[in-house]
Amino acid sequence: MSICNCELIDFPKIHDPRGNLTFIEGLTHIPFDIKRVYYLYDVPGGAERGGHAHKNLHQVIIAISGSFDITISDGTSSKKFHLDRSYFGLYLCPMIWRELDNFSSGSVCLVLASEPYSESDYLRNFDQYRSTPKSPE
Ligand code: TYD
Repeated sequence: MSICNCELIDFPKIHDPRGNLTFIEGLTHIPFDIKRVYYLYDVPGGAERGGHAHKNLHQVIIAISGSFDITISDGTSSKKFHLDRSYFGLYLCPMIWRELDNFSSGSVCLVLASEPYSESDYLRNFDQYRSTPKSPE
């Protein structure tokens, strides 16, 4: 599992003068079945979210409104994305450390997840994360 397994996904767009529409179907537009949806909103200026990895969870992160930065790391390499379009999602495979910041005013971060919430799936300490074996790709 490395940041090479993470990628931006360009979702379908239905352009319409009445307003555009994007749709996402699990296992079709993203590589997992969606078991949970959550979102971050009312994020105060300067706040940072994330700061953890997941052992088994697959996620897609979308700037459904506004923008924010997400920096991902596999313990060796890191990469920063600026998400600012509601038709792009960043797919994160398991065992990727992520940090989110630079939230614009009124932004909303939507997350599609492959499993229900489980605190035991989190690695919240970076040193512990770095020393945890990453399963083969
Ligand atoms: P956390 O995942 O650490 O937030 P972020 O990565 O966005 O900074 O979750 C923050 C808190 O919310 C933590 O106490 C766990 C709880 N939580 C749930 O109860 N259910 C969920 O689906 C999520 C994502 C978090």
